[in-house]
Amino acid sequence: MPVFNIAVLPGDGIGPEIMRQALKVLRVIEKKTDLSFELKEGLIGGCAIDKFGVPFPQETQDLVLKANAVLLGAVGGPKWDNLDFDIRPEKALLGLRKLLEAFANLRPAKLYDALLGASSLKPEVVQGVDVMVVRELTSGIYFGEPRGIIVENGERVGINTLKYREHEIRRIAKVAFETARRRRKRVISVDKANVLEATVLWREVVTEVHKDYPDIELSHMYVDNAAMQIIRWPKQFDVILTTNIFGDILSDACAMLTGSLGMLPSASIGGKTGLYEPIHGSAPDIAGQDIANPIATINSVGMMFTYSFDRPDLEVAIDKAVQTVLNQGYRTKDIWEEGKTLVGTEKMGDLIAKALETCL
Ligand code: IPM
Ligand code: MG
Repeated sequence: MPVFNIAVLPGDGIGPEIMRQALKVLRVIEKKTDLSFELKEGLIGGCAIDKFGVPFPQETQDLVLKANAVLLGAVGGPKWDNLDFDIRPEKALLGLRKLLEAFANLRPAKLYDALLGASSLKPEVVQGVDVMVVRELTSGIYFGEPRGIIVENGERVGINTLKYREHEIRRIAKVAFETARRRRKRVISVDKANVLEATVLWREVVTEVHKDYPDIELSHMYVDNAAMQIIRWPKQFDVILTTNIFGDILSDACAMLTGSLGMLPSASIGGKTGLYEPIHGSAPDIAGQDIANPIATINSVGMMFTYSFDRPDLEVAIDKAVQTVLNQGYRTKDIWEEGKTLVGTEKMGDLIAKALETCL
C-alpha cells in the first residue's frame, strides 16, 4: 500500500479554509483507493512570521525537503505588508520554489462548460478554451542581482535585474515542448525580444531546443501582443511558454477566461519535489467568511496526482467530480450567476468530495 508523505502548508488569509477542502478530497481518495497519505502541517508566510519572526522557518524547510509533495494554500496579508522586504510572506513563497528547484510552473486554464456564463468575455470567445501556461519560476527578474533600493546622487533608485542563463531557458523550453506533445502540439513562446536582450537570448535558445521537437509547432509572440491576443481570441493558444514575470501576469489574465481567479490550479515541478498551489493569493478581504472558491486548490491536488504520484487517473476523477458539482448548479460567490445555487467554501468542498466518491 503506497504511502505518500505530503507537506501541507495552509498559509494565511483564505489559505486554511481552502486547504481544508483539499484535504477532504484526499480523505476520499484514501478511502476508495489503496493509497494513503501522511500529512504534515507546517507554517509559512505571515503565520510563520507571527510565531517565529521569519516567513519560512527552518522547521518548514526541513518538512518540505522530506516530503513527497508539497501542498500550499496562500501567503500574505495587510498585517505583514509593512515589514522589511526580506521577511515579507511573499519572500517565503519564492524561497520555497527555489529550495525545491521547482523551475517549471504549469498553470492550466480550462473552461468548464458549466461556467460559460461566468466569464466576463463573450461565450463564443471562451467556449472550449484550454490553455497551459508554462512559466519559468526560479529565475528571471524575480531573482536577478543586483536588486534593491539604493541612493544615487541624493535620490532613491530602485533596481531589479532580468537575467536568464542559457541552461535555465533550455530546461523550461523542454518542459513546454514535452507538455505540448501531450496536448495539441503547439507552443507559443512569449518574450519582449524587441526591447530586452535577456529575452533575445530566450527566443534564440527556445528556437534551438525546438530542433529536437519537429512534431511541435513553435511560434513567438511579444508579451504586449500576447496579452491582447489572450483577450481577443484565446483559442489560438495551446501551450504558452514564458518567463517568470510574464507568466505571472499572463496567467492571471488566462484565469479570467475560465470565470474566476479561484479556478486556476498550478503545479511547480522540475525539482526533486513538486509544489502544488492555487494561482490566486490569500484574499485577506474575504478570509474566514466561508465564501472563497476552493476549486483551484482541489484541482491542484489533482495535478499532484499526475505530476508527483504518477496517477493521472486520479486527476481525471477529481476533475470529473468538480464538473459534476458545477453541472448540478452549485457555485461559490465568485462564479455565481442568476439561477444557480450559491454555496460556501465548506459546502463546495463537501459536494466535491461526495461527487468524487462516485467517480472513483
Ligand atoms: C503567483 C503570485 C506570486 C508570484 C506572489 C504571491 C509572490 O502572484 O504565484 O502568481 O508573483 O509568483
Ligand atoms: Mg500571480
